[in-house]
Amino acid sequence: MTAERVKVGFIGGGAISELHSRGYPDNPTGELYAVADLEPGLARERANQWGAQKAYTDYRELLADPQIDAVEILLPHHLHLPVTLEALAAGKHVSLQKPMAISMDEGRQIAAAAASSDRVFRVFENYRTYEPYMRARSMIEAGEIGNPVSIRIKSIFGKGKGGRPMSDREMEWREDPARGGPAWMILDYGFHITSIITYFMGPVETVHAMADTSAGTDRFPGAPAVISWKHRDSERYGNWDMLTLPEFMVRTSYYPVDEWLEVTGTRGVIWVTHCTADLLGQPPVVMYRDGEMRSYSDMETDWGDSFRLGAHAFTGAIVDGTQPELDGEEAVHALAFAVGAIKSAVEGREVKLREL
Ligand SMILES: NC(=O)c1ccc[n+]([C@@H]2O[C@H](COP(=O)([O-])OP(=O)(O)OC[C@H]3O[C@@H](n4cnc5c(N)ncnc54)[C@H](O)[C@@H]3O)[C@@H](O)[C@H]2O)c1
Repeated sequence: MTAERVKVGFIGGGAISELHSRGYPDNPTGELYAVADLEPGLARERANQWGAQKAYTDYRELLADPQIDAVEILLPHHLHLPVTLEALAAGKHVSLQKPMAISMDEGRQIAAAAASSDRVFRVFENYRTYEPYMRARSMIEAGEIGNPVSIRIKSIFGKGKGGRPMSDREMEWREDPARGGPAWMILDYGFHITSIITYFMGPVETVHAMADTSAGTDRFPGAPAVISWKHRDSERYGNWDMLTLPEFMVRTSYYPVDEWLEVTGTRGVIWVTHCTADLLGQPPVVMYRDGEMRSYSDMETDWGDSFRLGAHAFTGAIVDGTQPELDGEEAVHALAFAVGAIKSAVEGREVKLREL
């Protein structure tokens, strides 16, 4: 790769593309070169807004553009498989928005295509480039709390105080199982959680979930839910509870959801108190060890900044020839964890991920 920056095309100019566009104005290794969206006029409007040179209504024309090195796929979930396969076949590096896919079969097809390609492929899950999570993980890896043995996560979906609600258009395809997949709160939103759990604690072996009484019907959103699991080859356990509370005001600049987590180790505990929103208003990372509490605030807590860092990580990895976070194999694992939780809730039994 020369000193020239990687030319990136966005496929999909919907809600999330605004946050992805933050990845390019100060990106030393990548530039946003083109946008494709089938809605007439939208790609041109986005391209003008972000200074991208080209706009397409047909993403296949973007893939045929030899100037473009890499794509960020920002499409409804049922399009993740076909567009990823076409993009890799066209010789583009691929960053695919989470969730990887809507079934294990689709996820495995994507991972197999990525593994047999010489292009960079990653699933983009922005919590992995959220600074408080990165800081907490490096503290855990440095042994600050001893051997991590348990993780606990809380998610509350409410009504935004600030930020913006999801539009009917964004909800319509998510709630359709053919386009959004089953139980979107666990498969789609939950992919963030299953990704970040494996990021902190390693792979999962067994999952058990209890969820609302519509489990198994087409109307099953997947929340409220209580999900617990055991990690593979270790005495490590975890649990996650997720609530939907329409009257609960969530102080946010983005989506009306917040989450916080706690990792307990053999010598101490680390809490990460910020993520999508700022419900608790506490220092982002707090540690208890040896009878003392310590707070860490010297980091960016704006969730939107994780999209900027995530784009830099993608184009930087293309230039360096390295693998960014969440390759195909690890993404299939995060998908299996979510799919396993849904299966457990529907069938009322513990599910071993190797069954899937
Ligand atoms: N990381 C996060 O926190 C986060 C948040 C929201 C969405 N997402 C992910 O981003 C992706 C898109 O979600 P969204 O909320 O932006 O949805 P959206 O409905 O706002 O946007 C989807 C866009 O894709 C376009 N589109 C649909 N079919 C197309 C086609 N064949 N060719 C070209 N364009 C097409 C639509 O016109 C629309 O503009 C999903 O995978 C979702 O999971 C991630």
